[in-house]
Amino acid sequence: MAIFFTSPLFFLIILCFSISVVHLSASPTLVLNLVHSYHIYSRKPPHVSHIKEASVERLEYLKAKTTGDIIAHLSPNVPIIPQAFLVNISIGSPPITQLLHMDTASDLLWIQCLPCINCYAQSLPIFDPSRSYTHRNETCRTSQYSMPSLKFNANTRSCEYSMRYVDDTGSKGILAKEMLLFNTIYDESSSAALHDVVFGCGHDNYGEPLVGTGILGLGYGEISLVHRFGKKFSYCFGSLDDPSYPHNVLVLGDDGANILGDTTPLEIHNGFYYVTIEAISVDGIILPIDPRVFNRNHQTGLGGTIIDTGNSLTSLVEEAYKPLKNRIEDIFEGRFTAADVSQDDMIKMECYNGNFERDLVESGFPIVTFHFSEGAELSLDVKSLFMKLSPNVFCLAVTPGNLNSIGATAQQSYNIGYDLEAMEVSFERIDCGVLFDY
Ligand SMILES: *[C@@H]1O[C@H](CO)[C@@H](O)[C@H](O)[C@H]1NC(C)=O
Ligand SMILES: *[C@@H]1O[C@H](CO)[C@@H](O)[C@H](O)[C@H]1NC(C)=O
Repeated sequence: MAIFFTSPLFFLIILCFSISVVHLSASPTLVLNLVHSYHIYSRKPPHVSHIKEASVERLEYLKAKTTGDIIAHLSPNVPIIPQAFLVNISIGSPPITQLLHMDTASDLLWIQCLPCINCYAQSLPIFDPSRSYTHRNETCRTSQYSMPSLKFNANTRSCEYSMRYVDDTGSKGILAKEMLLFNTIYDESSSAALHDVVFGCGHDNYGEPLVGTGILGLGYGEISLVHRFGKKFSYCFGSLDDPSYPHNVLVLGDDGANILGDTTPLEIHNGFYYVTIEAISVDGIILPIDPRVFNRNHQTGLGGTIIDTGNSLTSLVEEAYKPLKNRIEDIFEGRFTAADVSQDDMIKMECYNGNFERDLVESGFPIVTFHFSEGAELSLDVKSLFMKLSPNVFCLAVTPGNLNSIGATAQQSYNIGYDLEAMEVSFERIDCGVLFDY
């Protein structure tokens, strides 16, 4: 990693805001601690119907995007899922702290910006671009970005982005460039600055509030930050139900990204990361599922399997979901009655009357494994397969859907590495703490 300082004056100014700032070269490495959303929850976690709605929105969005119907849709409600990972970065000069929801299924980094036509309440001060001397308007390069939709406004000479959401919520604002300041743990007490990062300055953010102050899109679209980091990144989620676990980490950069374990080929469509599931097993026994149900239909764009950190739930098409659910209920042997928590029929999250810790974690439950092409596997233990809803209700963290998507709950206890040059993703079951010998 080359270290240089742009100008002595600039360095001095930056020095006022942090102990030491490393200005990042063309292909830097950043090691970032992920913040669990519970740390910033001021109110009590949302009710289950919210989680469910969020997933409905997410699936609608994914479906719309994969079929090409409505390009600029992003699920707005997803971040209100209480269990999410956030990246703590600062933006602008002087730097203003942001907590961004990490999302592998969208491309744009956007934050709420002053002046607000509409902003939801956030606990941190809202970024004011007029007070930052590194702020620049970005030009519209419409054809290069599939998402968000962009429009050049000749009057203001700015590029307006718009992300319209399925349920009449969304974010609109100006496409801009800024300096981002990362609290890297690569080197204690240092911050790393990345210049001219394209992002959305959202002046009109309406609908359900986010956890945090915006979204960090890590999809493959051209606007995504991953292209500034040598097209390699990795993350390790220790535990979604332990907000105090200290080793959740996101690594950006081709030097430092942890590409460990078995790999499976990645395919990119519409900026999404697709993998190929070949089989699902429970306790080592392959479920009777026709592997063709996992294929992506190249005509309709439907099907296939996406990796999505922006949703805590995993979804499977009906033909794969049913055999899994049936097998799980066979193992339950009628010990848990169905808990009725659903209010609509769009998505059916299966919930049961039982105590998550006593009946599942302590009693144990067979491992469910997703088998990917070329041998990589993702094994879901009891905490990655179920989620606790209330003291006496737990739910299956896998739902039926229009496409297969692997959500954040299923990705726990894994290091997941993306090598976008080799077009591979790797899965390694690991205690994230062992990655910390930086
Ligand atoms: C984010 O980083 C800033 C330092 O830049 C720190 O003061 C703040 O406590 C961090 N927030 C969280 C939630 O970790
Ligand atoms: C950037 O865009 C904003 C909003 O449209 C506009 O008010 C401002 O004048 C633009 N700045 C420059 C330097 O063009």
